[in-house]
Parts: sequence; structure tokens; C-alpha cells
Amino acid sequence: MGAAPAGAGDRDAAAKAVQEMFTSIAPRYDLLNHVLSFNVDRLWWWRTARRFDAILKRPGARALDLCCGTGDMTFALRRRTGSPDVKILGSDFSHAMLHRAAAKAAGTGRAPQWIEADALRLPFADGQFDLVTSAFGFRNLADYDAGLREIARVLRPGGECGILDFGEPRGVIGKIYRVYFKKVLPKIGTLISGVRGPYAYLPASVERFPSPEEMIERMKQAGFSEASWTPYTFGVAGLYRGVKSV
Ligand SMILES: C[S@@+](CC[C@H](N)C(=O)[O-])C[C@H]1O[C@@H](n2cnc3c(N)ncnc32)[C@H](O)[C@@H]1O
Repeated sequence: MGAAPAGAGDRDAAAKAVQEMFTSIAPRYDLLNHVLSFNVDRLWWWRTARRFDAILKRPGARALDLCCGTGDMTFALRRRTGSPDVKILGSDFSHAMLHRAAAKAAGTGRAPQWIEADALRLPFADGQFDLVTSAFGFRNLADYDAGLREIARVLRPGGECGILDFGEPRGVIGKIYRVYFKKVLPKIGTLISGVRGPYAYLPASVERFPSPEEMIERMKQAGFSEASWTPYTFGVAGLYRGVKSV
């Protein structure tokens, strides 16, 4: 099970469609993110990074932000680090998104290291990282179980993973939110980006994504203990956290 953009028949075609989609919206990605989320995205990245303070404050820690896009989650991690020898890497398979991340980091000192790579085939040996995060990227992987196994592979035993992604709020708030997310957001997204596909794909991909209960089960299957989900902003988004079993 994984992302399935319209017209993509298999895993490779899905990954290619996702890569092209993000490359096409890269120039307007940050603006759209902030407008469409009313800037709450900044709060979600900050909360996620703060959750992993114990790791980020540890001298010598290594953290990888997968599907980093233009780098906002990566920068949020870097801001929480306690010592200059904590290593932060951001990786993504869209060159255009990474290019913008690198431009944003220029001149800020202690820039993260950027790696162009597919999250399902990471160019790292086993057990390299203390923390792997992904913000709004994991949902786009063409195979969720393979993605979780790859995260577990590059984490050291006892290392932690944090997956921040959209959810589907319930109740009255959920009803109001769905009108916004399915009807209003795709129109504004299309208008500002000038590209139709991605902002119709977004609500469809969230609908397809496993429920928190199912994701937690999949995380356990992939080798994570203490798997949990913490809703953010009434469940509009939420953080999956797991610890790689020792
Ligand atoms: C919605 S953006 C999220 C970017 C950033 N993390 C943020 O919070 O704004 C999703 C990113 O995931 C990347 N992505 C999707 N599938 C990927 C894969 N298989 N390997 C690497 N990157 C991937 C896309 O290129 C895109 O930059």
C-alpha cells in the first residue's frame, strides 16, 4: 500500500508521478504551504522537532529528515540542536525542492547536509542515525511498509522515528475541515501554483492514507516498539513516533 497518483499503474510510475508533481510546484511550494495552512505548518514542524529534544541535544547525534522538500522540518530540527557536532541531513528525490532548501540555508551557518535520494533506497549503511523524521512526505511514498522498513534499517537500535502527516479530524470540526480541504484548498492551490494535479492529489492521498490505528500496526510490523500517534490541531495533522526495537 502506498501513494497512487491518478494514472500511475505501479510503484515506479507512482514514484515518478510524485517526483514530477513536486518538482512542478517547487517554485511556489513554501508560499502555498503557509497560505493554505494559515501558517500553522510552522507550529507543527516546531512541535515535532521539540518532541525529539532529548536526541537533538545529545552531542554527536545524527538526524535525517526524509522527504525534506524545501527544508522547513530540517531547519526546525537544526534549531533544537544543543551542540555544534550534532549532524542534521535532509534528503529528497526532487532536485528542484532540494535546490530551494539549499538556497534558504545559504549564509545561515551550520547548514544541514542535503542528499538527493529516494526514501525507499537510501544511500546509507544500516544503523547510521539516532533520529529519522519526515514531514508531509511519508504519505507520498509508493510503498508505506517498504518506507517504514527503510527507516528502521538506517536507524540504530533504540533510535527514534517521527512521521508528521495530515490526518482526518472527526466530528463537527472534521465536517467543516473537509469542505475546506476538498473544495477550497484545491482551487487556491491550483490558482497560486498554476498546476492542477498536485492540489487535487493532496486530499485524495490523505483519504488513502492508513488510519492512525493501522499505521501504528504497520510500524510495529516494521520493527518499531512504543509506536504512537499524537494528534495536532484537532487531528488535522499528527505525529507518529516509534522507537526501533533493540
Ligand atoms: C509535501 S512535500 C514535504 C516537504 C517538507 N518535508 C515539508 O514539510 O514541507 C513532500 C516531499 O516528499 C518528497 N518525496 C516524495 N516521495 C519521495 C521519495 N520516494 N523519496 C524522496 N523524496 C520523496 C517530494 O519530492 C516532496 O519534496
